[in-house]
Amino acid sequence: MFDTDSSILSVQGLNAGYGRSQVLFDCTMGAPTKGAVAVLGRNGAGKTTLLKTLAGELEPMGGSITFDGADCAGEPTENRVRRGLGYVPQDHTVFRSLTVRENLALGAMADPKSDGFDMALDFFPKLAGRLDQEAGTLSGGERKMLAISRAILGKPHLLLLDEPTEGVWIGVIEEIADRLTELSKEISLIIVEQHIELALRVADYAYVMGRGAMALEGAAEEIKKHPDLVRYLAP
Ligand SMILES: Nc1ncnc2c1ncn2[C@@H]1O[C@H](COP(=O)(O)OP(=O)(O)OP(=O)(O)O)[C@@H](O)[C@H]1O
Ligand SMILES: [Mg+2]
Repeated sequence: MFDTDSSILSVQGLNAGYGRSQVLFDCTMGAPTKGAVAVLGRNGAGKTTLLKTLAGELEPMGGSITFDGADCAGEPTENRVRRGLGYVPQDHTVFRSLTVRENLALGAMADPKSDGFDMALDFFPKLAGRLDQEAGTLSGGERKMLAISRAILGKPHLLLLDEPTEGVWIGVIEEIADRLTELSKEISLIIVEQHIELALRVADYAYVMGRGAMALEGAAEEIKKHPDLVRYLAP
């Protein structure tokens, strides 16, 4: 775990779910002010539910979330975003009928002090040639790049990424991984991934979820070699 002085996020005993169906059980985790944390686990383990709860889309059933020194209880998503939280959800990540430029403009509006598009286009130069293309016609990889760029334009201090390489060709996966590694030197990232190799390459620390609870945690190097890892990741 991370000591309070160097952490941007501290989650204690978090319970959450949908209606009367509880999905997260007593989850405790954290993230440092800089660096990447991976959250791994098989389909249905509760990874997306965890990120939705951190983002404020789901109300916790119990426990606490402290983000940047303030308790998030009852705090709407837009306030968390204003305080520096970014979120790239697993799906519906871009406005398909808007152009790349218009999608980026929406990201920039999240931060009135944003330097415009330059940073986002430096980040993923492929987007520069596609500014006037409708986002719905982009490839899966380009759409992921656009969703990440749009979130970065909001200048987050903590960025939640739900499967940033899902359905993406291996060459583009490498590009996304390299950019996330660079980004993790500046801000805090929480990366949910099925692509274990990539996640443990980018992240310094990892949590492995099993059935809505934290099953393993430790330095990425240690988790990579953990004898129980396969138990929680095998289909
Ligand atoms: N809106 C919902 N209403 C009811 N149950 C839901 C809802 N969304 C997810 N669940 C259930 O919560 C559990 C955890 O789902 P979640 O999407 O968090 O898993 P995940 O780890 O992100 O899986 P994946 O790797 O497939 O994305 C699953 O059993 C799922 O069916
Ligand atoms: Mg998911």
